[in-house]
Amino acid sequence: MIITIEQLLNDEELIHIRALLAHASWSDGRITAGTQAALTKNNQQLSDNEKQLPVLRQILMQALSRNALFFAAALPLKILPPFFNRYAGISNTYGAHVDGAMRQAPDGSYVRTDLAATLFLSDPTSYVGGELEIEDTFGSHAFKLAAGSLVLYPASSVHQVTPVTQGERLASFLFMQSMVRDDMQRRLLYEMDMALLELRTTIGETEAVVKLTGTYHNLLRQWAES
Ligand code: NI
Repeated sequence: MIITIEQLLNDEELIHIRALLAHASWSDGRITAGTQAALTKNNQQLSDNEKQLPVLRQILMQALSRNALFFAAALPLKILPPFFNRYAGISNTYGAHVDGAMRQAPDGSYVRTDLAATLFLSDPTSYVGGELEIEDTFGSHAFKLAAGSLVLYPASSVHQVTPVTQGERLASFLFMQSMVRDDMQRRLLYEMDMALLELRTTIGETEAVVKLTGTYHNLLRQWAES
């Protein structure tokens, strides 16, 4: 399942993040790529010792934590600290790749990357190219979202960022382990959750709605791991 979350960041957060990135220094993006991915990765990234990184990460994590749609779709168990990248000039693309299955958290533990997300930070009219193309069983889907909006997708999918031929594309990307490992199970829960939300607003907490809500939680209890 691929879903987009419009305006994850509010205007104030977006302005703050852009201001911090304007003074950041960029390194070769291959620092966080695996062997296969490193061959096709040609972008720039904030290094781990960049002094603005903790504040940038905090703003983004706060925005994620207040977003109910993100929670319903991702059912996040562990979210790895977000990275920030830049596509411009000669470092302008990231060819087709699959994200590594396991990544190390700052505390040394491993996190399984069930889901990946890209948060767009540049105005889409300010650069040419730079689409995030994600393949799933229904074909290839291209995303070039408004600044502050996010796309969430299975990290198991083949994806790429097409060359930025003009302007600059700033983004953040992150990985997470979901409480529900299986993409189809996660999707069923998400669809049920959204339908229940609609029923609650249209017909209220009827007996059937309460029972179905129970079924949602019992499915989650069956499938979730923590
Ligand atoms: Ni990737």
